Amino acid sequence: MRELTIPPELLPADGRFGSGPAKVRAEAMAALASDPLMGTSHRKAPVRTLVGHIRSQLSALYQLPEGWQVVLGNGGATSFWDLACVSLIKCKSSHGVYGSFTQKFASEVAKTPWLKDPLVTEAPYGSGCLPALDDGADVYAWAQNETSTGVAMPVLRPEGVGEDALVLIDATSAAGGIAADVSAVDTFYLSPQKNFSSDGGLWVALCSPAALERAGRLTSSPDGRWVPDTLNLSLAAQNAAKDQTLNTPALATLILLSAQLDWMMDNGGLAFAAARTAESSRRLYEWAEASELTHPYVSDPALRSPVVATVVMDERVDAPRLCSILRANGIVDIEPYRKLGTDQIRVGMFTSVDPDDVSALIRCIDWVLEQIV
Ligand SMILES: Cc1ncc(COP(=O)(O)O)c(C=O)c1O
Repeated sequence: MRELTIPPELLPADGRFGSGPAKVRAEAMAALASDPLMGTSHRKAPVRTLVGHIRSQLSALYQLPEGWQVVLGNGGATSFWDLACVSLIKCKSSHGVYGSFTQKFASEVAKTPWLKDPLVTEAPYGSGCLPALDDGADVYAWAQNETSTGVAMPVLRPEGVGEDALVLIDATSAAGGIAADVSAVDTFYLSPQKNFSSDGGLWVALCSPAALERAGRLTSSPDGRWVPDTLNLSLAAQNAAKDQTLNTPALATLILLSAQLDWMMDNGGLAFAAARTAESSRRLYEWAEASELTHPYVSDPALRSPVVATVVMDERVDAPRLCSILRANGIVDIEPYRKLGTDQIRVGMFTSVDPDDVSALIRCIDWVLEQIV
């Protein structure tokens, strides 16, 4: 039996507020169910046409400059970190670390035998920082959205970064939900299970000519490092140019990604997506600031993510109990990131989430708080 039943009129139309995997639109699921491409070869024209469509829609969404390429492969953004250690970092990287995901990339670099120890600039969780300048660094890396803490950082080329250095942006949970001028950086990579309302398992990287050129050199040097095919960005780019991946992709992931890109582009592209997440998050942060029992975890409003909001609960609130009551009522995945403590909630407000459902979520939380505090 449920501990508490939330009045049905308060409930959101869709109760998925996870930070990824996240809400997939019902229309996209319906389109997937009847898609004739499921169960057909990824080497044949129809699936390659789909991949080509995804690549051109992403180019249009981000208005990619001449010479940039949309490259994709299996394994998600986590695999892209390993790929960067093989195909993009020459000797040393400099990282901005302000949460679990920015930390994980720096840790992967630190474990790579042929790379120098990375330079790590850390900001306390709930805040953010750019990587420090370093004469020896040939890659600079940080995340546009640190999904663990809900901190958003700018996408730019830091002043003083040498012309030969590459800037790599982890846009796993930001892409398709927060605006960015990617022409300022060299690689902008993402996974499709966040704003793109698809499923996990794929990485997609928007790559500048400089990034592709670096990968070409690092992966073809005859006496160079060991380059496994799955971590070879040049090989991935060669396949992408033929609208395919090195090995078999999940077709459902591609079909859902394509449907979401069409939905975004038909509604106004990145400006539409960014306005929608800005509206959702405005409602949530205003509530979190006004409520006596909550406050935003990220104290600097300029760093608050519009796609993943973290909210601290007053000590009078049993936050895990709140989450479990909501879950029993169909509102799922607002538990905090597992390493951030238990006095929080984390709300994913990716582009598919209706701002009115965020308002409904707030009403439900207020209702539960009235019962349990
Ligand atoms: C910012 C960020 N980077 C990287 C990852 C890893 O992505 P994946 O699970 O697709 O490998 C995540 C996953 O949530 C993320 O949020």
